[in-house]
Formats: sequence, structure tokens, C-alpha cells
Amino acid sequence: MKLRRWIAAGAVAVATVAALNITPATAGRPHDPAAQSLRDLAMRHGLHVGTAVDMAALNDPADPRYRELTGSEFSTVTAENVMKWESLEPTRGSYNWGPADELVAFAQQHHQRVRGHVLVWHNQLPAWLTSGVADGSISTTELRQILRDHITAVVTHFKGRIWQWDVVNEAVSDPWDTPSTLHYKGFWAQHLGPDYIADAFRWARAADPKALLFYNDYNIEAFGSGDPANDKTQFVYEMARDLLAEGVPIDGIGSQGHLGTQYGNYDTFQVAAALKKFAGLGLATAFTEVDVRSQLTEGVRAGDSNEINPRLQASAANFNVLLRACLASPHCLSFTLWGFTDKHSWVPGWFENPPEGLATVYDENYQPKRAYQELKADLVFSGPPFVLPRVPQQPRR
Ligand code: XIL
Repeated sequence: MKLRRWIAAGAVAVATVAALNITPATAGRPHDPAAQSLRDLAMRHGLHVGTAVDMAALNDPADPRYRELTGSEFSTVTAENVMKWESLEPTRGSYNWGPADELVAFAQQHHQRVRGHVLVWHNQLPAWLTSGVADGSISTTELRQILRDHITAVVTHFKGRIWQWDVVNEAVSDPWDTPSTLHYKGFWAQHLGPDYIADAFRWARAADPKALLFYNDYNIEAFGSGDPANDKTQFVYEMARDLLAEGVPIDGIGSQGHLGTQYGNYDTFQVAAALKKFAGLGLATAFTEVDVRSQLTEGVRAGDSNEINPRLQASAANFNVLLRACLASPHCLSFTLWGFTDKHSWVPGWFENPPEGLATVYDENYQPKRAYQELKADLVFSGPPFVLPRVPQQPRR
């Protein structure tokens, strides 16, 4: 009798705790916000936190921590490379879906959403395509058909399993390009003219009516960066506005968020203003490739804390700026890191002169850095009236 009463009292206690949405202290003290994952803390806001995933690292049995953290800390994933054209169709007409399918399966197992990256980009194209165009064996008419077929094949293959597609990536030039006036740059604009952008969105929509279709680019975190007549954010804003006016089914703007501590970067309100302006067009937004790199000076490489600490702090501060701006806009749906550990980051291999690194939120030994803690702090210490739950985006027809 006594025992039964104890059991009943215990059940009531458990139910009460569940109703209050607090977990008993005995379960590893998860009531301590710092002990919760990024994904759980972000879900309080309806926000998805993501990472780009390196499939070689995910499958490396000698590196189990990478897989664990990919599954536990994030609620959305992006293929770092395996959904790019050169990976999906290395030989004309024969698709290699394996690695990308594996990532989608991993995401399903871990209750994660998938950002599809990327349908149309000038980089990481297969050699058969670029050389065929260069030697004239692929005509302009054929190239347009090839692009249409690619978008249709890829979007159809993943239909229903992709939350947001980066339909077009990095179509706009930078002020340091020639000519310096902003323009549509790269392989696709050169060969098909800028109309390929509207076409790409329409073809993607035809293949998946439910995926959110994004335009994705870098250096569009804030308006007013640099010369006002040559403002990339403004250029992309006008592009999106014009596409919408033509009835093109674009649903969102992805701001990559590749920052560096050596630059001035932005303050939170500048970035929030940009997100708000895109939202004013009826578009969702997302940070899609966030990392904040630093120069690896001799002192940094030698382990000099006088040089390392300010960089770690500046990096954390820039992560904070982007996340706070995102939290402040209910239409900012996800915040994706371009890799989460310095052990697997594109930065050291890409920015070599001068060498750069330290760009992610965990160090090479999977120790969380200040940036990781401060992202969590943003998620913990924000809420109404200025931070409201996310507003889901409806895919445009
Ligand atoms: C990078 C990957 O991280 C590298 O592994 C690859 O060698 C080159 O591409 N903008 C993008 C991403 O949209 O696809 C790029 O990813 C980084 C810049």
C-alpha cells in the first residue's frame, strides 16, 4: 500500500514537472541553459540552427565526435559539397546520388530539416559542362536545356525532402570585380544572360511545389556597406523586387554570413534593417553559411594568447551580431554555420594568403569556443517583445 502511494506521488511529480516543461535536476541538470544544445535553445524561438556537413568527416569512424555533434547540436543541415553539380553529375547523364541521399537520411534520423545547396552556381561545375561550352560543342540553346534538365532532375529526386533550396548562388559581382559597377557575373550570366535566374526559380518550382526557393549570396548582410551607388545588398534587393513583380516564385534571401575579424563588419541593427527590408518584400530570410575567420599571424600560430584572445572575442561578437539580427526578424527562419569545428573548415584551405582560420564555433579538438557559448547566450536571453516566434513562409506559386 505504502509503495503504491509512493509510486502515485512519483507519477504526479513527473507529470507536474512535464507540464511545467522542466526536467528534473537528476537528468544531467538540463535546466541549466548552458547545458542545452543550440538546436533546443533555438527551438524556443522556432528558429532552426544548422551546419554545413562534410560527408567524409561524417563517415569517418576515427572521428565519431563530428557525427555526434552534427546530430545533437543542429536542427538543419546543408551539404557542404555533395549536392553541387560536379558531385551529382560528374559524367554527363549519370547521376551520383549516394552521398547526398546519405545526408538526407541522416537528417531524417535526427529530425533535421535539409537546406538544398545548390542548383545554379558558377563554381564546382563538372568539367564536361564547362569544357563543352568552351570548345563550342555545347551551344547556348543546348546549355539552357541542360540547366533546365539539371534543376528538374535534382529537385525531383529530393522532392518533399528539402526545406529550402539555394536555387541561384552568388550571381552578383563585387565592387572589386571588373567592371566595378555591380552586374550579373559568372558562367551562367555570360552564356545565358541574366534571364537564367527567373527561369531557374520557375523550373525549381515546377519540380517541387513545397520547397522554399532562395537566392543566396555573400556580402549582403547589410545595406550601405561601401559605395552607396554600388551596394550589393541594394542590388540583390532590387533583383528580388523585380523578380517578384514578374511573378517569379522566389521565397527567400539567403545571406551567407562569411565574415572576418579583420574587417569592420556590421552592428546588429544594420543587419536587422537588411533582414527587415527583405521581409518587407514578403520574403523569408536565412543566414546560410556563417563563419567568422581571422588571420593566422605568426603569434597566433605560435599560440600567443595576446594574439589569439582578441580574435576569439571578435569572432564571437560577429556571430552574435548575425544571430541577434536574425532573432529580431520573425521571417529569419534559420541560422546555418558553414562547418562547426576548426577541424573541418573550408577557411584554411581557401584563404591562404595571408593564412586565415579559427572561423568556427568549436576548436580542432571539439572544445566549444567563446562564440559557441555566446550564440547560446543570445538564444537564452532573447524573447518578447523584440524577439518573437518565427513566421513560417508559404511557398510562392
Ligand atoms: C565551399 C566548400 O566549403 C569547400 O569545401 C569547397 O572546396 C568550395 O566551396 N560559398 C558557397 C559554398 O556557396 O558552396 C562554398 O563552399 C563557400 C562559399
